[in-house]
Amino acid sequence: MAEELLISTSSNKVDRYETLLGQIRSLVDGERDLIANLSNVAAALKQSMNFFWVGFYLVKLNQLVLGPFQGPIACTRIDFGKGVCGTAWKEKRTIVVPDVEKFPGHIACSSASKSEIVLPAFKNNEVVLVLDVDSDALHDFDEIDQTALEQLMRIIENFL
Ligand code: SME
Repeated sequence: MAEELLISTSSNKVDRYETLLGQIRSLVDGERDLIANLSNVAAALKQSMNFFWVGFYLVKLNQLVLGPFQGPIACTRIDFGKGVCGTAWKEKRTIVVPDVEKFPGHIACSSASKSEIVLPAFKNNEVVLVLDVDSDALHDFDEIDQTALEQLMRIIENFL
């Protein structure tokens, strides 16, 4: 496992994600503990991409429960179909929200969060967790973020 995260200084987001995903692969390689791996993934993502909030919500019975995260304190439980996270769980797909104020039912854990992307990870075709990334800038997530973060979810599925 790497001792220190190498952060790409490239101004190109594709390059930065490529460097990050390579490191995350080696970071989780050989480690099966879910919480340990999710904790390092959240830290690596926050540190390298400088997002406002990065974290996981884990499906537990009929709710999403806060898991490893980096950033300010956040809501601990989200119901199925509620907010961006609960909607991504219900609809089993990535949801990109360019302006959180325009997403009906958005759950505001912090008023500083302006845009958001939520991605599900699957085991046996069921959502077992979602990754939520928040930005303090409007319109901060595009197809590059979606593609790279969906690749990250496939890496995560290897240790679920
Ligand atoms: N905004 C999310 C709730 C989680 S926080 O942003 C960390 C939602 O609407 O589901």
